[in-house]
Amino acid sequence: MEGNKKVGILTGGGDCPGLNAAIRAITKTSIQTGYEVIGIRDGWKGLIDDESEILDSINTSGIIDRGGTILGTSRMSPFKIENGPQRVFDGLKKLGLEALVVLGGEGTLSVACKLSEMGLPLVGIPKTIDNDVKETDYTIGFQTAVQIATEALDRLRSTAESHHRVMLLEVMGHHAGWIATYAGMANGADAILIPEIPMNKRKTKELCNMLKERNKQGKNFSIIVVAEGIELEGITNRTRGSNISSDEKTYGLGGIGNVLGEIIEKNTGLETRVSSLGYIQRGGTPVSYDRSLATSFGVKAARLVKEKQYGEMTALKGNEITSVPLRKVLDGIKTVNMDAYRIAEIFFG
Ligand code: F6P
Repeated sequence: MEGNKKVGILTGGGDCPGLNAAIRAITKTSIQTGYEVIGIRDGWKGLIDDESEILDSINTSGIIDRGGTILGTSRMSPFKIENGPQRVFDGLKKLGLEALVVLGGEGTLSVACKLSEMGLPLVGIPKTIDNDVKETDYTIGFQTAVQIATEALDRLRSTAESHHRVMLLEVMGHHAGWIATYAGMANGADAILIPEIPMNKRKTKELCNMLKERNKQGKNFSIIVVAEGIELEGITNRTRGSNISSDEKTYGLGGIGNVLGEIIEKNTGLETRVSSLGYIQRGGTPVSYDRSLATSFGVKAARLVKEKQYGEMTALKGNEITSVPLRKVLDGIKTVNMDAYRIAEIFFG
């Protein structure tokens, strides 16, 4: 191996389809430009605990279509453990890495930016099914999640029609309703509920009136898609995994659909059923778009490392694969483009 240039790769935060396509692209491009590639296991944890493996064209062959991440991931943050940042620097030095490529969502990339500003040589790649990372049109994983959610809505439509029911599908999207908006638009959903539009009691009543009106007009079924992070007036204590009940006024992520379904059935008298996609929308093989986006981001990241353009994140702007300073990504998340939502809204009801 020419010289001892080494680049490390880590995947942090929630997994998503397309990560392996990116790992493959970074590895193959880096090897072609004279680097040895080290895969770091389970995100930042692997750098601190020295858990890594050599990646090459053999062990990254045939993974472009595999879901998840061959490296494993974790939500561990170095800033939440004693002496964490220093232990990251020590880990980089111990492995002899010239630089890191960090694949992450808003949380992991925020950590990456802080470490970069402390001098850690790294490049970021935006990935999350939520598509809520700023400065890039799309993140790796988003299009696959939309496809899975759309197919689920199509299936629910057929059974809703047969049983004359209101069918509600809860999808992921903690702070932004991108998956709900685009899957709902693609399915022709009768309502799309997203965190960007808080559901006060008036809006909830309007929703129930719309469903009753549809029924009166002989449209004897309805499809509603709801992002897990919507704010429902009167329901508080948004904590992950807490009990889910409208009576106790508490629910966790992955439960608001049941609460809303109860409210709808009670207020409309219409038989209502709820399905939650949960982790199904985050697993399995990436659609071709995500494979191509991940490959393009991986090649771009390897080139940024070669050029020592640290502190940057790969980004999609229109049809262009480019890069932006990581610090521009930090101030908040990318919420839904309301022009797109307004287009979907034309077909509500
Ligand atoms: O990665 C984003 C995401 O899938 C969110 O949509 C979801 O709320 C969250 O991760 C689930 O986190 P975890 O996998 O830690 O339960």
